[in-house]
Amino acid sequence: MTDSEVFKEGLAGVPAAKSRVSHVDGTDGILEYRGIRIEELAKSSSFIEVAYLLIWGKLPTQGELEEFEYEIRTHRRIKYHIRDMMKCFPETGHPMDALQTSAAALGLFYARRALDDPNYIRAAVVRLLAKIPTMVAAFHMIREGNDPIQPNDKLDYASNFLYMLTEKEPDPFAAKVFDVCLTLHAEHTMNASTFSARVTASTLTDPYAVIASAVGTLAGPLHGGANEEVLNMLEEIGSVENVRPYVEKCLANKQRIMGFGHRVYKVKDPRAIILQDLAEQLFAKMGHDEYYEIAVELEKVVEEYVGQKGIYPNVDFYSGLVYRKLDIPSDLFTPLFAIARVAGWLAHWKEQLSVNKIYRPTQIYIGDHNLSYVPMTERV
Ligand code: SDX
Repeated sequence: MTDSEVFKEGLAGVPAAKSRVSHVDGTDGILEYRGIRIEELAKSSSFIEVAYLLIWGKLPTQGELEEFEYEIRTHRRIKYHIRDMMKCFPETGHPMDALQTSAAALGLFYARRALDDPNYIRAAVVRLLAKIPTMVAAFHMIREGNDPIQPNDKLDYASNFLYMLTEKEPDPFAAKVFDVCLTLHAEHTMNASTFSARVTASTLTDPYAVIASAVGTLAGPLHGGANEEVLNMLEEIGSVENVRPYVEKCLANKQRIMGFGHRVYKVKDPRAIILQDLAEQLFAKMGHDEYYEIAVELEKVVEEYVGQKGIYPNVDFYSGLVYRKLDIPSDLFTPLFAIARVAGWLAHWKEQLSVNKIYRPTQIYIGDHNLSYVPMTERV
């Protein structure tokens, strides 16, 4: 097989690992975490239980879950060094940049890199799951000119994050919806940020650097940043009548429509189906959102034009409408994605350690050979 037959742009369709963490069937729109369908987990589980399932490969017993939840609850606070560091970040900085820097900074305090020590592994998992939400909320509060709000140890994972944004205990239904959103975003096989995590993990660096690497990758608008762009797009469209001309303009200009398309799914993302239902439940309970009709019309028109190319809503299309109804600022949408995906990244980090093979692919060199060095005086 020649190099050009092997090479696939963006490694499209090229297996980069053998994994037991999750499975996606892009033709039938199926997503499983450790063999369990996402619809089941969204209905019956919680984000912390799902994180345990992804990372340790089995559903926890009642005792294991209570111990895991207790450990996370008691490790939510971040050192004052991290908070003070965040106070030096520019107020105009994007929360994803602050998160990437802060996650790497955790490595300064906790690295030690005893990767063969199960206690080190467990401590790193607990610290990262526990502290990432606190860092996101802390940066948000600091940027608003307020002191960060300390975690509320009485509240569960999802409720505590919403509490740290407002210092008010959230509506239980809103907190449950947010918890399901975290479950839906927790893991998704070999997406770009998880691939980054595995490549970084393969060098046997510390897990804090692995998470910082994955956060930086997720920050890109083609990956994690799309849900924030979707709301901007719906606002730009402005009315149901403007949807069709907008779609025609985008397609004519080969402009990607945010929240649509996927490297694997060629049908509607099963997470988008669940998120659309959550949005409708929220609207019924907490009041309607005029953007929703525009979104539904946009989905219909995009399917009419490019459905045959397998372009349907992905996870980012309805998530922004859910977060907006939960009064979460739009520039925290991608950090929310990161908070959830820490579970999947950690699962792949642990799995990669058992592979113990550094990633080092090859390339097809298309440059020059045997060129002479040109003295400065002869350069143009
Ligand atoms: C996530 O991988 C994961 O699992 C990611 C994720 C996860 O959970 O981790 O699911 C989360 O990243 C969701 C995706 C969020 N991003 C967006 O919504 C941005 C818009 N989407 C596109 O940029 C695009 O669909 C990608 C990046 C998601 C997928 O890109 P691919 O697989 O590389 O597809 P492509 O760019 O090669 O496009 C193939 C064709 C092209 O047409 P042709 O040139 O062949 O004629 O499909 C068209 C594209 O123009 N196309 C789109 C489109 N996405 C693809 N046309 C219009 N709008 C789009 N959104």
